[in-house]
Amino acid sequence: MRAGRQDGMVVGRERSSIGRVVATEATPATPHAFAFRGARDGAVGIGVIVRVEGEDGRTVFGVVVDGRAYAGGEAGSGQRAAATEAGAGDLSTDNREPTTVVWTVSVLRQLPPEPMRPVPIGAVYLAGPDDVTVALRMDGYAAGPDAAGLPVGLYGGGTSSAPVYLDPDFLLGPEAAHVNLSGISGLATKTSAMLFLLSGLFQRLPRRQGRVAAVCFNVKGPDLCFLDQAAALGPDERAMYQALGIEPAPFARARYFAPFKPDGVNLNTLRSHAELAGSVTPLVWGLPEVLEYAEVLLTREDIDAKADAFIDFLADRVVGKEFADDWGGVHRVTTFADLERLFRAIFDGLERKGGRGDLWRTHHIATIRKVRNRLLNISTRCKGLVADDGSASDLPWGAFEDRAVYVLDLAGTDQLAQELVFTRVISELRERLERRELGVEHVVVLVDELNKYAAADGEDTYVRRMLLDISERGRYLGLVLFGAQQFRSQVHRRVVGNAGTAIFGRSDTDELATAGYHVLSPATKTKLATLPKGELMVRHPHFTQPVFVRFPRPAVLLGSDGLERFPPAPELAFADAVARQLAAVDRRVSAAVVRDLVTDRAPDDVRRALLATRRARPDDALGFFRTRLGPRVARGTLDDAGPGVRPLSPVEDPYASP
Ligand SMILES: Nc1ncnc2c1ncn2[C@@H]1O[C@H](COP(=O)(O)OP(=O)(O)OP(=O)(O)O)[C@@H](O)[C@H]1O
Ligand SMILES: [Mg+2]
Repeated sequence: MRAGRQDGMVVGRERSSIGRVVATEATPATPHAFAFRGARDGAVGIGVIVRVEGEDGRTVFGVVVDGRAYAGGEAGSGQRAAATEAGAGDLSTDNREPTTVVWTVSVLRQLPPEPMRPVPIGAVYLAGPDDVTVALRMDGYAAGPDAAGLPVGLYGGGTSSAPVYLDPDFLLGPEAAHVNLSGISGLATKTSAMLFLLSGLFQRLPRRQGRVAAVCFNVKGPDLCFLDQAAALGPDERAMYQALGIEPAPFARARYFAPFKPDGVNLNTLRSHAELAGSVTPLVWGLPEVLEYAEVLLTREDIDAKADAFIDFLADRVVGKEFADDWGGVHRVTTFADLERLFRAIFDGLERKGGRGDLWRTHHIATIRKVRNRLLNISTRCKGLVADDGSASDLPWGAFEDRAVYVLDLAGTDQLAQELVFTRVISELRERLERRELGVEHVVVLVDELNKYAAADGEDTYVRRMLLDISERGRYLGLVLFGAQQFRSQVHRRVVGNAGTAIFGRSDTDELATAGYHVLSPATKTKLATLPKGELMVRHPHFTQPVFVRFPRPAVLLGSDGLERFPPAPELAFADAVARQLAAVDRRVSAAVVRDLVTDRAPDDVRRALLATRRARPDDALGFFRTRLGPRVARGTLDDAGPGVRPLSPVEDPYASP
C-alpha cells in the first residue's frame, strides 16, 4: 500500500537510490534499526527520512540518527576518517580514495506491519513528500476528504519538502493532549512556535470538532501583548505559510485583560499605547470571587481544618446575605470593607463579653484573626486586582467566543495575584467546561515559564496542583495545556510526561545530558544543540521517532517588535487615567471635564463609578459616570467615612503578617 502513488510516478529525487542497506554479523539489520552505506549525496544528514525497498516487496521508512565516514571503498576496510553528521559523505583524508559513509537509521514504519521482521537488504531512497506522509503515519488523519491535520512545520527542503501535521485528537483530546515546548531562551523560538501552532489550530481545526478558544497567561514582559497586530513577513516565510496551508494573519479575536496598578486606575500592562489602550479590559475581582479561592492563598501558610471551616462559614452564611452578629448588629457583607466591619464587631463583642470570650459560633478567636489577616493581606498585596469596594470586572464567563484568544496580562503583577488569577481562571474554565457552560468546547491554556509554576521540586503550590490536574484530566474536559520552559528537566515530570506532543528548539548541552534525553542518539543531540532559529524537533504519538521541521515566524507582532511600534504610554495622573478609561467607552469624553468631576472625590468612589461605566458601556459615558459618582459630599464627612482598614484593637495576634 503506497498512499498517493496511484499514478506510479516517483516524486523528485527518490527516483535514484542513494545507497543500500548493509548488514553484517557485527551490525545486523533489526526490526527497529539498520545501516546503509554509500551516500556521497549531500542531501543525507541527521534527521533525513529515507525509504528502503526490499526485494520481498516490503517497504521500510526510517530517520537517519547517526553517520560514520571512512576513507576507502569498503566500509570497515578503509581507515576511519571521522564520525560526523550532515555532509560527511564529502569528507576524505585521501583524495584518491573514495569516501564511504555508513548511516545509522531508526525505523519509523514498516509496510506491511506484520510480520515484523528485520529491515530487508534493499535499495535506499530519499523520502519524497508522499513518503513522509506514510512514514509519519499522517495518512491516517491528514489525508483524504476528512483530513484534519494541524500543521507544525515543514520537513526537509527542496523536492523532499513536506508539511508535517499533528493529529487534533492527540492534541486536544480525547486520545492524548497537550503540547510542551523546551529550549534555550531567545533561540529556541518557543513562544513563537506556540503562537504559530495556535494560529494553525484555529484555522484548521475542523468545525465538526467543536468551538475552541485560548486563554494565554502573559507572564513575561510584552511577549503576548500584540497578538492582534500583523508582523511584516518576508516572501520566504509567506511561501512556507502557503505550503502549510494557513493564512499568515494575526488573531482576529484577541481580547485583553489586565489588573490595575495599585492606584486602581492605570492598567498594569505594557499594552498601553494610546491606539490600543481602549482594547484592554480591567481585571478586577471582589470579595465573593476571592473568597471562593481563599484556600489557594492560605495553603502556602499551613491552613488548617479550622480555618477552612471558618472560610466556608463566611462563604455560605455571611457573604451576600443578611447576617446578624450576636450583639444586635446586622451585616450585609459584599466587600472587603464590609467584612472588616463584621470582624471588628466580632472582636469588640468578644472583648466586651470578657471572661472566656475566645469562641464565637464555635470558631476560635485565633482562627478568626488568622483568616482576617490573610484575607485583608490579599486585598492589600493584590491591590489593583482585588477591589475593596465590591466592583468587579471579569472574563466573559459563559460567552467565550469561538477562535478567540483571551490574554491575561500578569507580567507586572505580584506573584500572589498571579497565583490567584491562575487558580481562579483555571478552576472556572474546568467547572464550566464540565457543565458545558463556557461557550466553547475546547480551551487551550498557554503557560510560559512552567519551571516556575510547575517546578519539579520545591513547594507544592496550588498553581502546580492545577497544572497537574489539567495535565492528567484536562483531555477529558477539553482543557488543553500549551506549556513552555527553558529546561524540561526542571518541570514536574507528570506535567511534561502527560504532554502528548513535545517540541524542542535549540537546547542546552547540560540539559541534553539529563535523563529525559537518553533516547536520542549523540548525533541527534548535537543537532538539537545547534538548531538554528525556526527549526524544531517534534515528538508526537504517531511519529515513532522525533522529526525535525522548520516553521515560519508567527504572523503576529512579537513582544519587542510590538513595543517598538506601540511604545507604552507613560503612567497617567489619577484624573487623566480615569479620563482615558472613559474615553475607551466613549471617544467624546474630555479630559478637562473628567478632571473637574473627580477633583476632591474619594478615589474608591471614582473607581467604582468608572468600573460601572466600563461594564455598562452606555452611549453617554460621561453622563452615566456623573450619575454613578453621585453628588459631591462635603470633605469633612468624607474623611470620616473612608472604608479603609483601620488597625485592630491591641490584642496580641500570633498570626499577624510580618
Ligand atoms: N520561525 C522563526 N524563524 C526565525 N526566527 C524566528 C522564528 N520564530 C521566532 N524567531 C525569532 O527568534 C527570537 C526568539 O523567539 P521567541 O521569543 O519565540 O523565543 P523563546 O524561546 O520564547 O525565548 P524566551 O525563552 O526568551 O521566551 C525572536 O527574535 C524571533 O523573531
Ligand atoms: Mg518565550
